[in-house]
Amino acid sequence: MNTLPSFDGEHAVVPDNQLLKRGERLLEPDVYRTELDGRPAVVKDYRRYRGTPLSPVARLLVRREARVLKRLQGWKHAPALLGTLGGLALGMEFIPGDTLSAGVQGVSQEVFDQLQNALARLHAAGITHNDLHGTNVVVSAGVPVLLDFTSALRAPRWLRNWPIFRQLRRSDMKNLVKMRQRLTGQKPSAEQAAMLAEPGWVQAVRNAWKRLYRRIKG
Ligand SMILES: Nc1ncnc2c1ncn2[C@@H]1O[C@H](COP(=O)(O)OP(=O)(O)O)[C@@H](O)[C@H]1O
Ligand SMILES: [Mg+2]
Repeated sequence: MNTLPSFDGEHAVVPDNQLLKRGERLLEPDVYRTELDGRPAVVKDYRRYRGTPLSPVARLLVRREARVLKRLQGWKHAPALLGTLGGLALGMEFIPGDTLSAGVQGVSQEVFDQLQNALARLHAAGITHNDLHGTNVVVSAGVPVLLDFTSALRAPRWLRNWPIFRQLRRSDMKNLVKMRQRLTGQKPSAEQAAMLAEPGWVQAVRNAWKRLYRRIKG
């Protein structure tokens, strides 16, 4: 793992850093744009948890995201990892472009085709993203780039076909199809819809949970 040489202690936050997202909810990082070694970079910063009981969890989140990005190094659909700092911050390549969040206009089918292929490649490598939303995809010069691997999981080879991982892959794909429908109006094909339909056991767990929840509440 790299450590970031020009990114130490308090010097990390220089005044012209541009805040991209303030961490407000529990264990959300501050995300800001900066420069590391002269390269435009993004830092996900959990240092406000330093010295708190949640610090080990924040470190775990940094380590996990760094590990996934490292594994994807060189892939055009993920930002390059630049390194970690003191265990509580993660630096990566800044990807210029717009996110696929609500309200963007004119996203082409072609971008979604690329995104679908990228997701298939990610899944083939045993990784699920688990938080595929518009704000976690940047389209940069026509290429969709996946961001935010905080929730991603990598299954060892022997686990990949377990129902739980199949369900996680299905849920990634479902999120993609939803985004596609929202932004381009394209509905899933009959084949896709069948592939994405929840298997019986998922419905059974969901219904059992609902019943239990209602009983607890009242
Ligand atoms: N490498 C990057 N290049 C460009 N923008 C980024 C990058 N990483 C994050 N962002 C921007 O910052 C936002 C928050 O980052 P994200 O990794 O999604 O953090 P969180 O886990 O808090 O959702 C993203 O929605 C995106 O707009
Ligand atoms: Mg995000």
